[in-house]
Amino acid sequence: MYTGLLHLHSALRYVVLVLVLLAIIQAITAGNKPYTPTNKKINLFALISAHLQLVIGLILYFISPNVDFSKMSDPIFRYWNVEHITMMILAIALITIGYSKSKRAKEDKAKHRAIYIFYTLAIVIVLLAIFTMKGRSQWTM
Ligand code: HEM
Ligand code: HEM
Repeated sequence: MYTGLLHLHSALRYVVLVLVLLAIIQAITAGNKPYTPTNKKINLFALISAHLQLVIGLILYFISPNVDFSKMSDPIFRYWNVEHITMMILAIALITIGYSKSKRAKEDKAKHRAIYIFYTLAIVIVLLAIFTMKGRSQWTM
């Protein structure tokens, strides 16, 4: 179960990155254009992929051999004990806040704006967390 979930979580990162990037691009290029159902769908799928990643990550956190609080002084364990979960939960929270603000905004311009501000902050944090990943190669599954 550990290996399966780790592979799923590893592969889903690309889905999250692509969907969040698509959402950012459509929000930035929108200008004064209306907020279309397609815009909404991509923003929602990005949110769902991030929430799925959260659930899988939480399960992994309890079963992973690389999460071990007796080895806090080791940088590899510290990354998985603290740094990964902190940065990723922050990023997912930003995506959720952005989606929620976008949903509640009245004007289409404000809907796009909430997405591009919050999703951009989130993707920067996710990429930072991936680039500082310890104990494995970053861009493989
Ligand atoms: C957008 C969100 C996230 C992304 C892109 C992401 C990405 C990754 C990647 C690329 C790996 C390495 C997979 C591999 O070794 O093949 C990983 C592992 C892991 N992630 Fe995440 N993650 C995210 C969120 C989370 C969250 C929220 C948690 C905890 C609640 C979490 C917990 C873990 C754990 C425990 C591991 C496995 C460590 C190990 O056993 O080696 N992740 N994650
Ligand atoms: C630990 C697990 C999870 C937490 C803490 C969580 C938290 C949240 C929160 C706070 C919102 C509210 C956003 C708003 O203001 O509209 C939300 C919305 C949503 N979440 Fe999650 N979520 C989790 C897991 C999931 C999973 C597993 C899925 C689906 C695979 C999912 C799908 C959604 C969808 C579709 C929405 C809202 C869509 C909308 O309002 O139109 N979530 N979630």
